[in-house]
Amino acid sequence: MIVCVCSNVSDGKIRQAIDAGVTRMSELRDKLEVGTCCGKCNSCAKRILNECLATSQPNAPQPIMFQISAMAA
Ligand code: FES
Repeated sequence: MIVCVCSNVSDGKIRQAIDAGVTRMSELRDKLEVGTCCGKCNSCAKRILNECLATSQPNAPQPIMFQISAMAA
């Protein structure tokens, strides 16, 4: 889906940028030129950014896994 018609930026390109480390709208603007012309795409781009950041938390604590049977022996 094209998010920014002016700069021909799709949601996939936005997601790729976020996967590459983008965490702010200003970074999306600098990297992809999203929202730098008419600005109508800003709310949609921001929504995608926030959704992606909410679902990909690389610094979130990971669950500790261990085998109980090995500990009981
Ligand atoms: S649609 Fe993105 S700046 Fe116009």
